[in-house]
Amino acid sequence: MAATAAIPRFPRDFLWGVSTSAPQIEGAADQRGPSVWDAFTAVPGNVKDGTTAAVACDHYHRYREDVALVGGLGVAAYRFSVSWPRVLPTGAGAVSAAGLDFYDRLVDELCARGVRPVPTLFHWDTPLALQDAGGWLRRDTAERFAEYAAVVAARIGDRVPKWITLNEPAEHTLLGHALGEHAPGEKLLFDALPAAHHQLLAHGLAVRALRAAGARDIGIANSHGPTWPASAAEEDTAAAGFYDVLLNRLFADPLLMGRYPEGLGELMPAADLEADLKVIAEPLDWYGINFYQPTKVGAPLPEGTAAEFAGLTLPTGLPFSPRPIEGYPVTDFGWPVVPEALTELLTAFRDRYGDRLPPLVITENGCSYEGIDDQERIAYLDGHLRALHRAVEAGVDVRGYFVWSLLDNFEWAEGHRRRFGLVHVDHATQKRTPKASYHWLREVLRAQRA
Ligand code: NOJ
Repeated sequence: MAATAAIPRFPRDFLWGVSTSAPQIEGAADQRGPSVWDAFTAVPGNVKDGTTAAVACDHYHRYREDVALVGGLGVAAYRFSVSWPRVLPTGAGAVSAAGLDFYDRLVDELCARGVRPVPTLFHWDTPLALQDAGGWLRRDTAERFAEYAAVVAARIGDRVPKWITLNEPAEHTLLGHALGEHAPGEKLLFDALPAAHHQLLAHGLAVRALRAAGARDIGIANSHGPTWPASAAEEDTAAAGFYDVLLNRLFADPLLMGRYPEGLGELMPAADLEADLKVIAEPLDWYGINFYQPTKVGAPLPEGTAAEFAGLTLPTGLPFSPRPIEGYPVTDFGWPVVPEALTELLTAFRDRYGDRLPPLVITENGCSYEGIDDQERIAYLDGHLRALHRAVEAGVDVRGYFVWSLLDNFEWAEGHRRRFGLVHVDHATQKRTPKASYHWLREVLRAQRA
């Protein structure tokens, strides 16, 4: 293990955790309703290595072993997601008793080990029946989501101290509905914006439903990262500004300020936009940030130039083009490792939203690397924890940090090709092996508790 100086001490009540999601680890697809990811992965070519999420890490059957790994790490909290089609196989109406029982057992197991359960209600696995009826392009899906939230709260709410409504609606809109790289595979470009509005509405309605069921401490997990213009030229700064609005403000502004960034509200499918924004801006107890990397953005490249970005080939005709960030190490995914961008992001967030910003929690941070002796992951986490600490010292109110991810899992369109786990999973045998980073983090947390 690399000898590194001790990570500076975080506040005593800082919440340390580790994250996963249902579609990426549970498997047991035959014991739930189908989701958009089952349909998407069935199409050859959609997942680069041809894997599906039908078995994934078989966590549904191995959750006790996995919870033991969470407990052994010494984290205080575990962020997982509830699979909507496991609880409501067709997204609405009939509840699956076996599906709810699973989350009941999982929550009990966590509590028995002294780990706080932090469920996310939606991590991209829309029930296929709802997708067939229009999915997130349809307002009705937001209403169904709030009903589902109430069903989950009624069953496990007595033991859940902290909730997350949605995970990364920005990525789900961009990758799933605008570019078609993720399920449901829609390539609507800017016509995907209704999916953004309806997810935001679903979030607000779910906050109300959860509170009505007695839930406290409700947040959302959004992806954010600094956007750096490719140059000081006017066309580059304008393009970067546009991208920044899509990534950093399209969701955060309505949630935290009750309004869309200029020009976007008019594009949203709402009979009464002001009324919808009131629902969307229902006060949050905390705001979750998933951070991986900054993005450099410039003016659109000349026609015919394929823009590669984070493993994607972007269509031409977009008003911006992501550019490589040079001079930093990259992960196996090709993502640049820039810890100081986390400090930059958090201080910029505080400056932008000021008093409207509730306490922040880093709900995901991590990297993809092969291997069990994963010194690069240790370096990544070490750098990001120091960068986070600098933000806390600068007065940003950050209350927790969750590593993505506990296990190597089903990494969406990459299948098993990208490994984000602190624990290695042999996908042929399901054997779990804690990596060097798992042991390192356990020691970091032990020192924080001392
Ligand atoms: C964010 C997503 O929430 C998660 O599902 C994904 O695995 C990580 N990014 C890494 O790509």
